[in-house]
Amino acid sequence: MTVLGGEPGVGKSTLVLQMLASLAGAGRASLLIAAEESGEQVRRRAERLGAAVDGCYLLATTDLDAVLGAADQLRPSVLVVDSIQAVSDSACGSQAGSPSQVRECAGRLARYAKSLGVATLLVGHVTKDGGLAGPRTLEHLVDTVLSFDGDRLQSLRLLSASKHRYGPTGELGLFEMTETGLRGLVDPSALLLGDRRRGVPGSIAVPVLEGRRPLVIEVQGLVGPTTSGVPRRVAQGVVGGRLALLLAVLERRCHLALAASDVFVSTVGGLRVSEPAADLGIALALVSAVTGIAIGEEVVACGEVGLAGELRQVQATERRLAEAARLGFRRAVVPQSAPEGPMELELLRAGTLLEAVRLLLGVVPAARSRPRTEIGGGPELSGGRDVRTLVRTPPSLVS
Ligand SMILES: Nc1ncnc2c1ncn2[C@@H]1O[C@H](COP(=O)(O)OP(=O)(O)OP(=O)(O)O)[C@@H](O)[C@H]1O
Ligand SMILES: [Mg+2]
Repeated sequence: MTVLGGEPGVGKSTLVLQMLASLAGAGRASLLIAAEESGEQVRRRAERLGAAVDGCYLLATTDLDAVLGAADQLRPSVLVVDSIQAVSDSACGSQAGSPSQVRECAGRLARYAKSLGVATLLVGHVTKDGGLAGPRTLEHLVDTVLSFDGDRLQSLRLLSASKHRYGPTGELGLFEMTETGLRGLVDPSALLLGDRRRGVPGSIAVPVLEGRRPLVIEVQGLVGPTTSGVPRRVAQGVVGGRLALLLAVLERRCHLALAASDVFVSTVGGLRVSEPAADLGIALALVSAVTGIAIGEEVVACGEVGLAGELRQVQATERRLAEAARLGFRRAVVPQSAPEGPMELELLRAGTLLEAVRLLLGVVPAARSRPRTEIGGGPELSGGRDVRTLVRTPPSLVS
């Protein structure tokens, strides 16, 4: 029993149709309940996707009794209800989509699925904050919770599991939405970095882990004098709280005056990054944006930033660095304690964010300047510059 959640229009029905078509190709009959769209609409979509095939049955209804009746008659290997919020049980007084209806319908479907051994997938709506709509019990009721994410305006789609009773949750499916449907991405990093511009300050590549899969994505930062009384902090694809924390560390530990600046951070490609491993990349992108010094396009950064400004090692650093090397990156900024990387990758080790800034951008905050030998392992730097001198342009950035 699986529930597949996703924002409106992200492509849930498309994914389901393509999945059922490939199951039919493998000789497994399925029944698709269209509770939101007419049979004609679903059939036309199936034709566009090449998914109108034998062995894939369709019933357009919102009545749960009709759903169970048809499933009893057909005995499919797979039953899909699109969506659980749109079906209702006439015995339960409330409206379709209400918590009690969703609980009742999902409960009856679960009992049916378990007693007859029919793999059942419920398509579910999500709320504004990304959680499954309806009662929390829905998540307890099912064996697997999948979510389908992506930026509707961009073509990347991600399928991940937040709960999986009979397997790992670390897997991630990456797809591209095309006119003929979803296509699995063989080399997602290449797509994510495809439109990167060279020599622009505020941009850095970051190897993140999506499930167990390392991916290199671009993180961008933009900083400018605030245009309103209250400075804006906009985080797209990055957790807002994490950005606030990094701004505080940049201000207190790296002497960057950002209190009167609008700050924007964004991940490119619609990918959401919640892991702290992206901290260092985000912070360096912001320093690069403030100072106007572009970070080399051959550089990646990975590490967690602590409140004291220290850099901490993150899980699976080796795999992240291997992916970066595979994609042709040549230098990586990492915490002092990070393990060795692949041969092709020169590691710039830094104990603190301040050291990482100095190593990568050649910027030396005067108050904290130390002999370079303490950093160790880094390349020769071009003459050090004072961050506070640099942030004086534009003047409004100085607190
Ligand atoms: N002709 C087309 N060419 C390219 N992409 C299309 C085409 N028609 C639909 N799409 C894509 O499919 C998406 C809609 O897919 P789908 O209906 O499967 O989403 P959904 O998640 O089921 O939406 P809902 O929540 O409304 O049920 C659109 O946002 C668009 O990206
Ligand atoms: Mg749909």
